[in-house]
Amino acid sequence: MNEFKQLSQEMRQAITAEMKAVLNVIEAQPDLFFGMMHYHMGWRDEQLQPANVNAGKQIRPVLCLLACQAAGGSWQQAVPAAAAIELLHNFSLIHDDIEDASPTRRGRKTLWTIWGQEQAINAGDAMFALAHLALHRLVDRGVAAETAVHALRRFDETGVRLTQGQHADMDFETRDNVSVDDYLAMITGKTAVLLSLCAELGALIAGQDAETVQNYAKFGLNLGLAFQVIDDILGIWGDESVIGKSASTDILTKKKTLPVLYGLSQNSNLQQLYQQETTDDAFVQQAIQILNHTGARDDATERATYYSETALGHLEAAQPSGPASIALQQLSAMLLQRNF
Ligand code: IPE
Ligand code: IPE
Ligand code: MG
Ligand code: MG
Repeated sequence: MNEFKQLSQEMRQAITAEMKAVLNVIEAQPDLFFGMMHYHMGWRDEQLQPANVNAGKQIRPVLCLLACQAAGGSWQQAVPAAAAIELLHNFSLIHDDIEDASPTRRGRKTLWTIWGQEQAINAGDAMFALAHLALHRLVDRGVAAETAVHALRRFDETGVRLTQGQHADMDFETRDNVSVDDYLAMITGKTAVLLSLCAELGALIAGQDAETVQNYAKFGLNLGLAFQVIDDILGIWGDESVIGKSASTDILTKKKTLPVLYGLSQNSNLQQLYQQETTDDAFVQQAIQILNHTGARDDATERATYYSETALGHLEAAQPSGPASIALQQLSAMLLQRNF
């Protein structure tokens, strides 16, 4: 029996229903303002006709609900927090695709390539505000006002750190003195703190003590680090039809991802190549060829495994219980293999 599969199915339905309620999904044709957001979420096509396509893996909201249940809570109470986090994630993706000049996301055209950068920025802003409205619905589910306010504070603190990470990610594109520590601080911000928040809020809403909540937070943080390192590997060697996004953008935009940093530290030809002002397909091919030689992929895989194991250590310290606890372990293994 796969606990993750079993539990996440029902959870996903509840998360989607909650997000649809917040994003004003009605049967009638939405206006373009909401329509653009519905397109991004995979609920409408380019003509704003109903669609049901890849809405993302939803690992963050499921992580939040599983943590809540494993910490002894009722996951249904945490659904508004899960939906809020997934909306915040989607806000960041809409803006990230503009920032990274990415043409595809989840196997479809990105918002900005269809409706232009100006309107895509605005749609992202709207999604950011709606994420907050989603979180306010915690009190409707009987969560104490004090807990909801605390969750809101942690939500916004995380939002600041996420955009700080995004700042560093873009800054590094034009810097050639980025260290592995710089990189780790950057991915902690842009990715890991949000996964950390998922597990933290789940345990908080379950009513756990501060120490246990922190153990869940550390579990999520390390899981997030492992997740981003794997994503960086896929950003170079991934199958575009599986990952749903371009596998050359990271190199084209000279992202200082872990494999690239490793390659730069090992190989002077790569250093020379990265001095080039402009990039093209030949640049990408050459860079990948050098990276293949240096063992950059194995180095990154080892690091991801280390973070995943560290994550599981913190989970154990949190003393999770029931099938949700097994599901969390399964999720950790799945993220490392990225087979879904
Ligand atoms: C993409 O996140 C952005 C990163 C932090 C790597 P996901 O890979 O979770 O994206 P979706 O939501 O499943 O599409
Ligand atoms: C996305 O990071 C992280 C955020 C949006 C906060 P990336 O730029 O590395 O992710 P992908 O590859 O576009 O999904
Ligand atoms: Mg980015
Ligand atoms: Mg990106």
